[in-house]
Amino acid sequence: MEALERVQRSVQGGDGPRHDRESGVIPADAGLDSVCDDEIETVEAILDGYPARTESIIPALQDVQDEYGYIPRFAMELIASECDSTMAHVYGTTSFYSQFYLEPRGDHTIKVCTGTACHVQGADEVSESFCDELDVDLEEITEDGTFTVSHVRCIGACSLAVAVMVGDEVYGDVEPDGVDDIIEEYRDS
Ligand code: FES
Repeated sequence: MEALERVQRSVQGGDGPRHDRESGVIPADAGLDSVCDDEIETVEAILDGYPARTESIIPALQDVQDEYGYIPRFAMELIASECDSTMAHVYGTTSFYSQFYLEPRGDHTIKVCTGTACHVQGADEVSESFCDELDVDLEEITEDGTFTVSHVRCIGACSLAVAVMVGDEVYGDVEPDGVDDIIEEYRDS
């Protein structure tokens, strides 16, 4: 906790507004000065499970993403402090790996493959159809917080182009008029 207080002092320079978990998703750029103690304790508990060294950064980021669905700024600040690193290094690591998200996501991310085989088979049209159906742009969260539509590179299912992933589930031969069925599977889950 000492390290935390040191970081809070250096980053926030005083008591700023505090995030309240009840108010919803934590903004991506919320630093240590704007999140509530519960959030800080959540990330500290994750970090308690790892040795305080740079090799712990990636597994800690994975756990943070499992908890929040993305990597909030305050978590990167804590990881930098507790893993004997810098914010620049943790941010660089987070942004390097495409599986880490720097913005809040919906409960389910619909990943439309836009690799060559899927592109040729109409991935752009499939992606547009998902966005139209959900009334969002790419990477936006639907109003009910359920979905985000993203693009991914080849997911190794080229013979099924256009391929779409939701969680661990892969859908093949997806066509623009077939997106409703996929959406319905997750709408109330
Ligand atoms: S290009 Fe889409 S799965 Fe390979």
